[in-house]
Amino acid sequence: MPMTDRVIPLIDQRLISLKTALPAQHVAPTGLLHDSLHRPLRDLRISVTDRCNFRCSYCMPKSVFDKDYQYLPQQSLLSFEEITRLAGQFVAHGVQKIRLTGGEPLLRKNLEVLIAQLAALRTPEGQPLDLTLTTNGSLLARKAKGLKDAGLNRVTVSLDGLDDAIFRQMNDVDFPVADVLAGIEAAQRAGLSDIKVNMVVKRGTNDHEIVPMARHFRATGITLRFIEYMDVGATNGWRMDEVLPSADVIKQLQAELPVVPLEPSAPGETAQRWGYAGADGAHDPSLGEVGVISSVTQAFCGTCNRARLSTEGQLYLCLFASQGHDLRSLIRGSASDAQLASAIAHIWQGRTDRYSALRSSLPADVGAGGRRVEMSYIGG
Ligand code: GTP
Ligand code: 5AD
Ligand code: SF4
Ligand code: SF4
Repeated sequence: MPMTDRVIPLIDQRLISLKTALPAQHVAPTGLLHDSLHRPLRDLRISVTDRCNFRCSYCMPKSVFDKDYQYLPQQSLLSFEEITRLAGQFVAHGVQKIRLTGGEPLLRKNLEVLIAQLAALRTPEGQPLDLTLTTNGSLLARKAKGLKDAGLNRVTVSLDGLDDAIFRQMNDVDFPVADVLAGIEAAQRAGLSDIKVNMVVKRGTNDHEIVPMARHFRATGITLRFIEYMDVGATNGWRMDEVLPSADVIKQLQAELPVVPLEPSAPGETAQRWGYAGADGAHDPSLGEVGVISSVTQAFCGTCNRARLSTEGQLYLCLFASQGHDLRSLIRGSASDAQLASAIAHIWQGRTDRYSALRSSLPADVGAGGRRVEMSYIGG
C-alpha cells in the first residue's frame, strides 16, 4: 500500500501530555502519600522501551505496529540516571515495589545497569525495594543470570499457552513456546524468586490451554495467573465476547485440578489467589497456587496503588488514562529533588482515576477503541 493511503487509526497519545508546573508549595515526602480516594502510592511501573519483538494481537497488532510505525527516538527516552532520580522521589513518597516493563524491557541496552541503580534505593525505613520485571521471556535464557547478579529479585513471564501453534499465532512472530520455557528455567536456575507466569485468556483463541497450563506449572513453585483480556489501548479491537470471565476459568480448573480460595497476600493486589487442594480438600502448599486477574468482571480500582512512568517520562495515573503528566521536562529543566517530590505529590493527591470500576457506565468513545494510551507505551 502506498504511504499516502495508509490509515493511522490512533491519535498518538504520546503527543498529548499535561504540563507539570513546579508547585508553589513544597510537599516533603513522608513515606505515605494518598490520592483523593485515599489510595496510597506503593507500586511504580516503569516502561523502559516502547519496542517489542512480539506482536501479540491484544497489545501490538501488526496492522498498526508495522515497519512504518514511528517508535520514540533515542533522545526522548529517559536515561538510566533520570529514571533512578525520579524513582528515588517516588520511593520517598512510599513506593515499595518497582516493576520494569516495556514493550519488552529486555530489549533496552544495558538494562542491568539500571537494575543495579534501582537496587541500591532504600525506602524511608531503610528497606530495599521489591524489584521485578515483566518480560515475554524471549531473551531470558541469555539474560537471567546477569539480571539476578545486578540485583533483580524476581520476574514475571508472559506466556499465553503451551500449544506451540497457538502460541506462535498469538505472538504473531512465530516464536516457539520451547524458548520461553527455557527462559523460565534459566530464571529459576539463576535464583530469581517468586516467578510468575501471566496468561492473557481470549475466549475462542486460547481458553482450551487453561487446564494444560495449570497442569504444567502446578507444583513447580511458579505461580500461573490468568488475566481477563482487557480493552486497554485503542488498537486491539477488543470485544466483550472475547473476554472469558475469571469465574469460568476457576470452573474449568475445579473440574480437573481442585482449587480453594486463599487470602490476599498484600493490600492492592491485582490477582485473586487460589491454592491447589490436596487429597483432604485443603490447600496443599507443595502444589502451589494460581491467580486470576479480573479487571473486566471484577474491577480492583478501589485499592489501586499503582503509578506508571512511560518510556519518555510521562506519569500516568491509570492504565486506561489518555493523558500523562510530563515529568521529563522537570528533570531536564532545573527542578531540585524537593521540587520533583512536590510535583509528584500534587499529581498523586489529585488522582481520581478508576477506569475499570466505571467501564460499564462510560460513553462508548471512552470505552473500547477510545483515545487511550497503548499498553506497550506505559507497560502492563
Ligand atoms: P505481582 O506483585 O508480581 O503480583 O504483580 P502484579 O499483580 O502487579 O502483576 P503484573 O504486573 O504481572 O500484572 C499482571 C497483569 O494485570 C498486567 O499485565 C495487566 O494485565 C493487569 N494489571 C496490572 N495492573 C493493573 C491495573 O492497575 N489495572 C488493571 N486494570 N489491570 C492491571
Ligand atoms: N489485556 C490483558 N492483559 C494485557 N497485557 C497486554 N495487553 C493486554 C490486554 N489487552 C499484559 C499481559 C502481558 C503484559 C505485558 O501485558 O499480561 O503479559
Ligand atoms: Fe510485547 Fe508483551 Fe505486548 Fe506481547 S504483550 S506485544 S510480548 S509487550
Ligand atoms: Fe488502577 Fe486504573 Fe487499573 Fe483501576 S483501571 S486498577 S485505577 S490502573
